[in-house]
Amino acid sequence: LKEAVAKESNEKSNMDSVNIEDHSLINLHSILISLFSNAIKKAYPTLEDIGQPAVSAGSKFADYQCNASMQICKLLKAKGENVSPNAVAKKVVECLGQCDIIEKVDVSGPGFINVWLSRNKLREILQYVLENKLKPKPLTNPQRVIIDFSSPNVAKEMHVGHLRSTIIGDSLSRVFEFIGHDVLRLNHIGDWGTQFGMLIALLQDKFPDYKTVSPPINDLQEFYKQSKVLFDSDPEFKKRAYDCVVKLQSMSPDHVQAWKLICDVSREEFQKIYKRLNINIIERGESFYQSRMENVVKELENKGFLENDDGRKIMWSPESSIPLTIVKSDGGFTYDTSDMAALKQRIEEEKADRIIYVTDSGQSVHFETLKKCAIHCGILDPSKVLMDFVGFGVVLGEDKKKFKTRSGDTVRLVGLLDEGVKRARDKLVEKGRDKVLTDEELELAETAVAYGCIKYADLCHNRSHDYIFSFDKMLEDKGNTAVYLLYALTRIRSIINNLGTHTQDLNEPISLDHEKEWKLAKTLLRFSEVLSKITEDFCLHHLCEYLYDVATTFNEFYDNCYCIEKNSQTGEIEKVYTGRILLCKITAEYMNTGLTLLGINTVSRM
Ligand code: ARG
Repeated sequence: LKEAVAKESNEKSNMDSVNIEDHSLINLHSILISLFSNAIKKAYPTLEDIGQPAVSAGSKFADYQCNASMQICKLLKAKGENVSPNAVAKKVVECLGQCDIIEKVDVSGPGFINVWLSRNKLREILQYVLENKLKPKPLTNPQRVIIDFSSPNVAKEMHVGHLRSTIIGDSLSRVFEFIGHDVLRLNHIGDWGTQFGMLIALLQDKFPDYKTVSPPINDLQEFYKQSKVLFDSDPEFKKRAYDCVVKLQSMSPDHVQAWKLICDVSREEFQKIYKRLNINIIERGESFYQSRMENVVKELENKGFLENDDGRKIMWSPESSIPLTIVKSDGGFTYDTSDMAALKQRIEEEKADRIIYVTDSGQSVHFETLKKCAIHCGILDPSKVLMDFVGFGVVLGEDKKKFKTRSGDTVRLVGLLDEGVKRARDKLVEKGRDKVLTDEELELAETAVAYGCIKYADLCHNRSHDYIFSFDKMLEDKGNTAVYLLYALTRIRSIINNLGTHTQDLNEPISLDHEKEWKLAKTLLRFSEVLSKITEDFCLHHLCEYLYDVATTFNEFYDNCYCIEKNSQTGEIEKVYTGRILLCKITAEYMNTGLTLLGINTVSRM
């Protein structure tokens, strides 16, 4: 992977013209980094590698700025050479190759290299976006990326932790897919294990004719609780529950059918949520790996990786602080076993190049241990397959305590989504939108706002932090919220749509001369940089911040630059500044794409 990146940046630096023939996702930041990196190597060939030179966007003095001179000075000084930062900067500039994204370069003290971008080149890129939409460069080596997310447990509540995993995992999948990777989204549902013995035993008691009639277990949680009570209090039931586990594991048809029924009830519940949130995911629960678990256990056993510990079979790696439990003392397999089998299957059968696990940070030790043990026993070769853990913090209630209902129960996701929709509608009605929008538009708007704000509130926080779930906050129409962004986008769309017949001549050049137009263009073009950052640290708040930046920069532009002139008497449009309308269209394209990558539906009116 590193090689591929190095190769790509080499290609870039050898070009004096940035090629946009087949794509519009130009990463100005990384192009500048490789240009400067090469210039530094050329200027100071004897200096050790200084890593990526610091290049940053958006100073008052230039479009981009490189400030690696200080660092170079220090290194030279250590070698006995005394040079001023300005002298270093000048030498680097001399060695900087020609590149058509750069208009002008100069040096200001102490050692800052200022870069001004070429308006013509940026116009050319934006023109491409206008004509072809946002299109990433076709990857020469797309990766097979498996994203393991959502993954609730059968017969247990899908809780807010699973909601976070669902939202983050879905958005990550969208980003990797958009860039051009081959993504497999997997739902590693907890659908196997000893608890199914209790559930099946209770099903047989309560609904003996379950084979012919579908049992009304709409409240599986209650059902689960009841079976647990019986399991703990009634020795006869307990024995039968164990018996059921054994029968299920040996695939006795009746038991398998009972198990399937129970899974179906849960699946229906999960599916309701996925449908509402527009989540695409393939279910491949722990049960899928049943025979593979047996095989992997045999393999580990034969190779001598398993150790007896009080009847359990455990596995260590020299690096891990805790072991994995591979076989329980009753002979059953565990969460660890299924993850080891799944990892092997994903590498060998799915040919994964990269596997990303999205769960709460509480599971980080589990995945670290899994990774270390898998490397230790040779299942995972980290030079061939990347394994990443994407953890996240806890969702808190407004009292900053664990998110619970008033009565102290876990919050039901369906209820939460319903409440979101109701609140979104209230908000729209409060603004009188029900009088302007058709019923259909209102319905689209309320779900876009409700689900959009729930997703955005999650994604806009650094994922590793806890965050407070507050409908009031997330439904605010000012500040960094989904509502603000959705309004901003519908406003841009209505500017374009309200031109009526005034859209004839779109052949004018995109207008970039006004300071605010230029600022907007540069802000928009950071998109590719943001996406590539997300593929490195899996933090989607970068994209949220970017979109918020785009929306506020657009507002500045719109406040300062007339897009149309109206007749003060009749209110009719008299003049259209086409070059600016084009900028509006391009902004809408970036915003729509960005919001879609966050899993947020946009609307044309709200
Ligand atoms: N079912 C698990 C839970 O609810 C999450 C599974 C995550 N994925 C995995 N491969 N272990 O905590």
